[in-house]
Amino acid sequence: MANDRTDSNLITREYFDSLLLEMRHIDSVIPDTAITLFGETFQMPIATAALSHLGNTAPDGMAKMAQGAKEAGALCFSGMGSAEEIQSMCATGAKVIKIVKPHADNEYVLFKIREAEEAGAFGVGMDIDHAFSADGQYDNVMGLPMKSKTLSELRSFVESTRLPFIIKGVLSVQDAEKCLEIGADGIIVSHHHGIMRSAVPPLMILPKIKAVVGDRMKIFVDCCVESGTDAFKALALGADAVCTGRAIMPPLKENGAEGVRDRLLSMNGELKGVMERTGFAKLSDIDDSVVYQRKF
Ligand SMILES: Cc1cc2nc3c(=O)[nH]c(=O)nc-3n(C[C@H](O)[C@H](O)[C@H](O)COP(=O)(O)O)c2cc1C
Repeated sequence: MANDRTDSNLITREYFDSLLLEMRHIDSVIPDTAITLFGETFQMPIATAALSHLGNTAPDGMAKMAQGAKEAGALCFSGMGSAEEIQSMCATGAKVIKIVKPHADNEYVLFKIREAEEAGAFGVGMDIDHAFSADGQYDNVMGLPMKSKTLSELRSFVESTRLPFIIKGVLSVQDAEKCLEIGADGIIVSHHHGIMRSAVPPLMILPKIKAVVGDRMKIFVDCCVESGTDAFKALALGADAVCTGRAIMPPLKENGAEGVRDRLLSMNGELKGVMERTGFAKLSDIDDSVVYQRKF
């Protein structure tokens, strides 16, 4: 019988909190958190996660998330949604990466990629971890059938677009190597807020993935990134950038785009504070030499 001890979100939160940091104040300066991703410079290595259905959180919630990301100088991911929705997100001027679901119908996948391109998306991708349901069948999301993808199917999606292609839901060295093999531009190391029980925390497997990927693909991390300190720990263990999802929903609900902007800016302010106190002047300097592991 499953219990809370196998809840992947709780395990992931616990793992973040088990990582401790030393301090190096001498010679430290105010750091620069600017980052270039796929040729575009952003002010922070913190992106909004590939959320969807944010109309349930705030009116025009998806466009407001994009607006908030743009105002904060952050990259914005988007989950499933209509043509009008991705258009409204891109119309804010935000750089939006559209994550397309692993629809069973590959023609429909290609259609959704085209739709994002035409809306002016900055990138596209797929959440490969959403193919199966909790009862061992192929999933059906909002009436749309899903199916797992073979490597050659994934390759055909990557090759179908000139936009950067990001594969979301990578939680093994094997899948990371396969993403490299087909020329993906980036991966999101994620368990999709607990899509499987007892999933390894993304930060626990991240160093292994970084060791094989190196600088050949951008590595994003999501799941339970709630603060600048969380973001720092992910960067220290090998991520280029992080995505934050559920943490921006309450401010979106309360204050719309401004709420999202302020939340991102405050997370980045905290990240800067940790960089100052650990002696790293720029993102690319950050390494794991300041990280300690409390008994887990
Ligand atoms: C309301 C909501 C909708 C989501 N929709 C999608 C989606 O359409 N596509 C996707 O790849 N991930 C989706 N996700 C998952 C997030 O992108 C992310 O992987 C997950 O929430 C973990 O990050 P977090 O802990 O910061 O929320 C959704 C998450 C939430 C909370």
